[in-house]
Amino acid sequence: MILPTRAPARYFQGWDYLELWVGNARAFSGWLASAFGFDIVAYAGPETGCAERASYVLEQGAIRFVITAALGPASPIADHVRAHGDGVRDLAIRVSSATAAYDAALARGAVGVIPPWTEEDDSGKVTRATIAIYGDTQHTFVERSAYMGAFLPGFSAEAALLPPSPGGPPVDLRLIDHVVANVYRGALDRWVDFYRGTLGFEEMVHFDDAQISTQYSALMSTVVWDGSRVVLPINEPADGPRKSQIQEYLECYGSPGVQHIALATDDIVASVKALRSRGVRFLTVPDTYYEDARSRLSGIDVPWGALQELGILVDRDQDGYLLQIFTENVSDRPTVFFEIIQREGATGFGAGNFKALFEAIERAQERRGHL
Ligand code: FE2
Repeated sequence: MILPTRAPARYFQGWDYLELWVGNARAFSGWLASAFGFDIVAYAGPETGCAERASYVLEQGAIRFVITAALGPASPIADHVRAHGDGVRDLAIRVSSATAAYDAALARGAVGVIPPWTEEDDSGKVTRATIAIYGDTQHTFVERSAYMGAFLPGFSAEAALLPPSPGGPPVDLRLIDHVVANVYRGALDRWVDFYRGTLGFEEMVHFDDAQISTQYSALMSTVVWDGSRVVLPINEPADGPRKSQIQEYLECYGSPGVQHIALATDDIVASVKALRSRGVRFLTVPDTYYEDARSRLSGIDVPWGALQELGILVDRDQDGYLLQIFTENVSDRPTVFFEIIQREGATGFGAGNFKALFEAIERAQERRGHL
């Protein structure tokens, strides 16, 4: 079949923002500022002419989050929070033309949520358009070349409207490295087809359940990307002796959705020290992991002592190595979490760690006689 139009990905220019819909935007934003070192730079709410919701814009490096909550029970945001708990609603992508990207997506089979709309204020205009993806999640295309304001029309950077800025050591997170989705069992291929066929992404790598499985958990994963900065691993659960962690997510989130957001740093040791001192907690790593890793990854010049002390994981692929660490869940449900990652050439996602980490946990359990 010859597709009728240029692929939407041809208009993509990287991430614009990730929007989370939460129960209490002011508290969630304040916590991301104090624990993760984000700056809160803009606000929209009743004081700025937006009666139904409160939104805070958080920035760090090139990372931008929008944290939004409902101001009344009739809001679709309240419905979303009731269904999913706090979660990621929108993966917004900057585009050269929102209308062209939206028209191309619909012509190639995407489901439209909001057709192109334009908002204006004294700082210029922004055109956006929104399509549906997995679960209740969506992509908004953001065309903002003609806009000079703080974020979007309707948002204010007035200090009195923003929560006070907490202090703390710099975390220096730089950019969004990848955003991971969990989808239902059997749906992975369909979503890979959607990203490739409809949006014009490419498949970067596939991991099957033989590569990512332990006694605890099995999953399959395919990574799609736009060839530039928008990198989207997609997981589906696979059979294992126990419930896949992906299945647990799907049951607790109530639908497919975003599992984790990976944020890149140039110095993960410094970033994780700062995050830990600000109170961020990470998954703990047994010492057996490092015994294993030092032999599995011998020859890599990394500060093993600091990595072990901080719980940072190491993985290698044909292009180099990467360092990564995963936070505890950041909402009440065991659903969304963050990853901090430093890439030294490696283009992978730490698949070696999944197996090594969980097998290390199993060995530690065995030592205690708990397996
Ligand atoms: Fe990841």
